[in-house]
Amino acid sequence: MSNKPFGTTPSGEAVQLYTLRNAKGMQVEITNYGGRVVSLLAPDRSGRFADVVLGVDSPEGYLGDNPYFGALIGRYGNRIAKGRFRLNGVEYKLAVNNGANALHGGVKGFDRVVWQPREAQSPDGPSLELKYTSKDGEEGYPGNLTVTVSYTLTADNGLRIDYHATTDKDTVVNLTNHSYFNLAGQGEGTILDHVVQIYADRFTPVDAGLIPTGELKSVEGTPFDFRQPATIGSRIGNKDQQLEYGLGYDHNWVLNHKTGSFDVVARVGEPVSGRVMEVLTTEPGLQFYTGNFLDGTIRGKGGKVYPKRAAFCMETQHFPDSPNQPKFPPVVLKPGETLQSSTEYRFSVEPAR
Ligand code: BGC
Repeated sequence: MSNKPFGTTPSGEAVQLYTLRNAKGMQVEITNYGGRVVSLLAPDRSGRFADVVLGVDSPEGYLGDNPYFGALIGRYGNRIAKGRFRLNGVEYKLAVNNGANALHGGVKGFDRVVWQPREAQSPDGPSLELKYTSKDGEEGYPGNLTVTVSYTLTADNGLRIDYHATTDKDTVVNLTNHSYFNLAGQGEGTILDHVVQIYADRFTPVDAGLIPTGELKSVEGTPFDFRQPATIGSRIGNKDQQLEYGLGYDHNWVLNHKTGSFDVVARVGEPVSGRVMEVLTTEPGLQFYTGNFLDGTIRGKGGKVYPKRAAFCMETQHFPDSPNQPKFPPVVLKPGETLQSSTEYRFSVEPAR
């Protein structure tokens, strides 16, 4: 692992960029500003490496307006309706930053803070450990929350992310990573031809503000059925109210696996390059988002422009708005407990069909 300076925040904090490498030549760059994955080089079927995550060229670009490129998301990933929830009889009011709702931890979420870095060597490969303590009341959330996130580049081309958190007061937590992937290479057109499989029989339908209705709906007969491989583009334009609300896919799938067990929950392949990405997680849900809000206005890495659907995200998570949804898996963390969660994006190649 190596590191170099990566700019300074407006408040004067110096930020670093870390490079993790493995013996197969895979390389990942991560900054401790927002814990963001800045680049990820993965080989195609003929061994050619390409950067498969979207981002911007300069540290200033990450400080500026951008849709969570590569970022760690917290304290609560995804939406909380009207930015309000009750816990132990107390109503908490969060910053509202997405229409009427709270999204991805608030105005200054974990994607916009400087994490304390530590380089480590795990048995699986080089690790960058990032630590952040979110103060009681930060962005409206109760309790001092200490979060440690370890990024490990494994020997078999996986980027593993291990999350740990503890609190001194009951609080709600939902941590994820918001990398935007294009397996053809960042800036290489849209992801509509990528082939996706998601091991989920159900998803959580939403209202027009993308807040779950509370129903766990079968994917059977809907464009949300990815139990068999299908291209992203094959049904994204279907006349379907859920797709209209999301402007495409921007929904949470209810994963079939047992929560807490570390399993492959999704697989994505790009036919031309042969690159494959498997998603493994312990989490119960997966937000599959198809870059519907990208609109060509951001100048990305290497001057690339990112049109609508230039990338997809697979955000492993607990379900959106869980603090207000008694039937969803719980997201409350209490003093004395440790939140532990793992996700891995594992890269390989498949032969031409
Ligand atoms: C959300 C989208 C949002 C995107 C970037 C995703 O996790 O589901 O609705 O636009 O993040 O902000």
